[in-house]
This record gives sequence, C-alpha cells and structure tokens, in this order.
Amino acid sequence: MKFFIDTANLDQIREAQALGVLDGVTTNPSLMAKEGITGKNNILKHYVDICHIVDGGDVSAEVIATDFEGMVREGEELAELHEQIVVKVPMIRDGVKALNYFSDKGIRTNCTLVFSPGQALLAAKAGASYVSPFIGRLDDISTDGLNLISEIREIYDNYGFGTEILAASIRHTMHVIECAKIGADVMTGPLSAIEGLLKHPLTDIGLEKFLSDYRKGNG
Ligand code: E4P
Repeated sequence: MKFFIDTANLDQIREAQALGVLDGVTTNPSLMAKEGITGKNNILKHYVDICHIVDGGDVSAEVIATDFEGMVREGEELAELHEQIVVKVPMIRDGVKALNYFSDKGIRTNCTLVFSPGQALLAAKAGASYVSPFIGRLDDISTDGLNLISEIREIYDNYGFGTEILAASIRHTMHVIECAKIGADVMTGPLSAIEGLLKHPLTDIGLEKFLSDYRKGNG
C-alpha cells in the first residue's frame, strides 16, 4: 500500500518524508489556501517545492477550471512543471473528457471528488491513473465510506482496470488499516494518521522494561 500525505504544508511533508514511508502527496485548493498559498505563480512554485521534498513520489495538483478546454490548458501546464506531477481532475462531465484526453497524451491523472462506484467505474474507463474516493466525507453524512472502497476494489478486479484506488479523506489510523485490509492501492491522509500507526502502549511499556533491565546490569 502506498502512503500519500494529504497536505500542502512543507514541514509536515518533510516530516513524513524523514520517516521514510512517504510515497507521494495530494493537495487541493482548500489545502493550498490553508497554507496561505495564493496567486498562480506562488501556487505553481509551491507544487515544485513539494516535488523536491518527496523523493520521486507522485504529487497531485488540482485544476481549477471546470470546462474541458480550461482543464486541458491548466493540466498541461501543471504536468510541464515536474515529472512527479499528477493532474487532479474533478469527477464532472468535462472532467471525464479531460481524463480521457490526458490519458491519450500520457499525462497522469487523479480523478477527485468520487463518492460512488459508478463514478469510479467512469474514471477507470476514462483512463484515470488514480481514483480518489473520499471516505471521511461519506462517513460524515452517515454513509459507509469503507464500503465504497470495497465496491470499487471488486469492480476494478472484475475487469483488471489499471486505475489505482487512492483512498482519500482519511481521518484516522483505523481508516488506514481498514483500507489496507480491503486492498486500496494508496491511502492519503494527515500526518497524524500515519504517525498514529506506530503507537502502542505495550511497545512503550516493553521498551521501558528492556532499558531499565539493561541499566540494572550495566549501570
Ligand atoms: C484528496 O485528495 C483530498 O485532498 C482529501 O483527501 C480531502 O479530504 P478531506 O475530506 O479531509 O478534506
């Protein structure tokens, strides 16, 4: 399972990268705004800065346009920025057309804002490299987000689609573990969800005992 971090915060990306388990980064316009990154040039520069931190990993950069021509224009510019850039395209009618276009051009894509198996099927048919089902946002409205991951896994396996399932809107460690059990190819979440995986009280208690026993014999 690949681990992506879902942030535009460079310090958090550096921290995840230093842990040695980071495979990529996803961003979106809200995450960029949260970091105060505004203006086209600053936004493009920020994507390149992220690419330089993540060693060879994929970095999703989202288009703002909602019409086909606009998405193509923006997506081609984003893809030109760096070889690690994956163009993030929303699951709307013109987005599906743009996915198809980018696929033909060999530009990698991440189809975002996916909330149903039908949308995921369309994204795969259109040649998306990644599909991003938002499980946390489904949970927020009392719908089982993890069930969507299972449904997409089944559909993609039935037909051998190459589109990777990128479980997005991950909120906590149990989302990560359940997605791994289902077989999501990738998860993207906050640093806390990644770091939460390493915590267990028995590990801390066990280590303390090992160290105090060592100190008794070697003090
Ligand atoms: C995915 O690429 C999105 O950026 C993200 O996972 C959305 O998560 P949220 O629901 O926590 O905003």
